[in-house]
Amino acid sequence: MKFQVPTRIYFGSGIMSQLKEIVEENFRGAGLYLVTDRGIVDSGIAEKVLSQYPEIQVFDGVEQNPKHSTVNTAGEMVRKLKPDGIIGLGGGSALDAAKAVALLATNPGRIEDYEGREKYKTPPIPVLAIPTTCGTASEVTWVSVVTHTERMFKMSIKGPQMFPAAALVDPDLLITLPPSLVASTGMDALTHAIEAFTVKAATFMTDIFAREALRLIFQSLERAYKDIQADKEAREKIMMGSMIAGMAFGNSDVGAVHCIAEAVGSLYDTPHGVANSVFLPFVMEFNLPAAKVRYAEVARMAGIEEKDDEAASRRLIQKIKDLSVSLNIPSFKELGIERDEFPELAEKSFQNNSNPSNPREAGVSDYLAILEKAYS
Ligand SMILES: [Fe+2]
Repeated sequence: MKFQVPTRIYFGSGIMSQLKEIVEENFRGAGLYLVTDRGIVDSGIAEKVLSQYPEIQVFDGVEQNPKHSTVNTAGEMVRKLKPDGIIGLGGGSALDAAKAVALLATNPGRIEDYEGREKYKTPPIPVLAIPTTCGTASEVTWVSVVTHTERMFKMSIKGPQMFPAAALVDPDLLITLPPSLVASTGMDALTHAIEAFTVKAATFMTDIFAREALRLIFQSLERAYKDIQADKEAREKIMMGSMIAGMAFGNSDVGAVHCIAEAVGSLYDTPHGVANSVFLPFVMEFNLPAAKVRYAEVARMAGIEEKDDEAASRRLIQKIKDLSVSLNIPSFKELGIERDEFPELAEKSFQNNSNPSNPREAGVSDYLAILEKAYS
């Protein structure tokens, strides 16, 4: 068994006010580069960094499902500027982009040259990851997901040096997060926890983090969605739940839900968490014969009092469908995905690196059946 999270974590409401001390503790020099997106600048969150570092060079061009061309543009800038470290500020897209740009700072070529595991020669420059959503947990994982738009493919760039050096996790940064993003990123976190807990690669250690993540997420997601501004406890629980779910799946894996969500995300600009929410209950129905005992345990953590494992699992699946409705997550049909794309989506899902980890073996025809069932 191996378990690794080398990232130094600073967690707490209001901890963003200690940014300068945290930067000084983790970066030797003063040269910093900020990788973020326009939304974070417009919301005023970037100001919390800019006010401390008025001279900092900023790249705010990261889009949802970050593109290889965007990362390469930022990479060229960072090679000229030669900063000592990178601050990634935003949701999973900004943090993944920051990790990829840090790799390009010390390695030649383009980001697509580093697709796969440990394809880089030199460790990236250190990254301080500051998440502003409650889902991806990119702040504590070793992977950066970048979309190659010409190949319509989501590349994973990963390796032990790709973990951020430090993560500043401040639940107060969620205060201005729109409810739809609390919902979709929170459902991404829930999917991470459920998949980490049920995949073949789950271990005693990953179970510890997955179980606690599940408890925290079930206790807080609906509350956070209803009133994230007023509910400090819900903010703290969903942020912690999201982060530790990342420690779980980062050391075990994700399964078929993510395989489909990433296939969808490579062809359409569907938010990752929305795609996960749509397919989670249908993949769970498919996985039930292989994961009944584990799903029943999750059901009990979700407050379902039912002794029979099969019945408990089925009630959990219904509860997750109901949760998606109460969080106003769009339905599959509302995503605008064409039915004639299903065979390609099924093939891409099957080809995903995480497919072998799914608790029940899933072939192309199984993915096709899951897509059809979710659609109808
Ligand atoms: Fe995810």
